[in-house]
Amino acid sequence: MIRLFRATNFRCLEYAELEFGPRFNLITGANASGKTSLLEALAYLGRGKSFRGASTANLIRHGQEQFVLFGELERAHGKLNIGVRNSREGLEVRVGGEAGSGAVALAEALPLQVIDPEVHNLIAGGPELRRRFLDWVAFHVEHDHLMIWRRFRRALKQRNAALRLRSTEAAIRSWNAEFVDLAGQLDRSRRDVLALTQRSLLDHGKALLQTELSFEYQQGWSREKSLEMALEEGLERELQLGATQSGPHRADVKVSSDERQARKLVSRGQQKLLASAMILAATQTAQAALERPLLLLLDDPAAELDSDSVTRLMSAVAALGCQVVATSLDPRALAFPEKPVLFHVEQGVITRLE
Ligand SMILES: Nc1ncnc2c1ncn2[C@@H]1O[C@H](COP(=O)(O)OP(=O)(O)OP(=O)(O)O)[C@@H](O)[C@H]1O
Ligand SMILES: [Mg+2]
Repeated sequence: MIRLFRATNFRCLEYAELEFGPRFNLITGANASGKTSLLEALAYLGRGKSFRGASTANLIRHGQEQFVLFGELERAHGKLNIGVRNSREGLEVRVGGEAGSGAVALAEALPLQVIDPEVHNLIAGGPELRRRFLDWVAFHVEHDHLMIWRRFRRALKQRNAALRLRSTEAAIRSWNAEFVDLAGQLDRSRRDVLALTQRSLLDHGKALLQTELSFEYQQGWSREKSLEMALEEGLERELQLGATQSGPHRADVKVSSDERQARKLVSRGQQKLLASAMILAATQTAQAALERPLLLLLDDPAAELDSDSVTRLMSAVAALGCQVVATSLDPRALAFPEKPVLFHVEQGVITRLE
């Protein structure tokens, strides 16, 4: 968990220093005061990138050269300091005093999840976000997942390059064995992880939407065929398109519900609830595997939700036992089971309220 946090020249924050409570923290402030900036800074410290996909140039405070983030983490075996400095020259990461660590070391040190006003895209958007969702759990739960994922990506790139160069069919087929082998490993890893997360997905779905849902892994090629066969049959088309059409890079998580609920799921509030249920399930599963509390960032969780839904969401959040940093326009909008540590932000200046 993160106890001390400092941000310098990140978006509108010139300098912010916060001492977080171990459980619930609430940041209030008017529109454009700096609430999202603060959460984004925290998320950046745990990911080495922005959760909104913002570029470095947009994150550095206007007129400045670089931003610096620092966190003091409390772990079972003692304290761990992590830091990030980012300038136009690039990202510099320090974990435990060691320079040259990468974003992976940050993700291991400060695993976190975010529920923000864009979270509904996990349902409404394309499959890439759902693959990333599954890969995030797998990264924390399955030791080899990252290595398998990276090796698969490399094999995919090489095969695609051969397709773009319009190599001979024999040359492209020569990539298939390795591609199929790594695809199989990635596929198994994701299936295992979805199975592991399934109970929590169903429970959180039920708690937040009060309905039965199902979550099914779709592998990225026809279920009736082996991947070898799908590649063989699709080769001509792949040569035309210059890209591999079958494989786990096309996978998805299909979320289904009964018909009545499915109609409601076109509403943005319901999509937000469903996406939040998935995020909470991912958090719970990773947390159980890592045996330490994760950090959950809630940016304006009350937005788009009716008050019953906010209550259900907040009680599911509280039951997870993770460390929470939430933002809200209205300090009374969110019910916490115990008094949160309160901060107020005004024009990028943060003060702790007693
Ligand atoms: N790189 C930057 N340098 C300086 N200021 C920035 C930078 N990026 C964003 N800002 C400003 O930071 C301010 C705070 O934005 P932020 O999104 O954190 O507000 P907020 O408190 O979350 O507001 P809301 O309640 O509307 O969500 C905005 O006025 C924005 O223009
Ligand atoms: Mg905001």
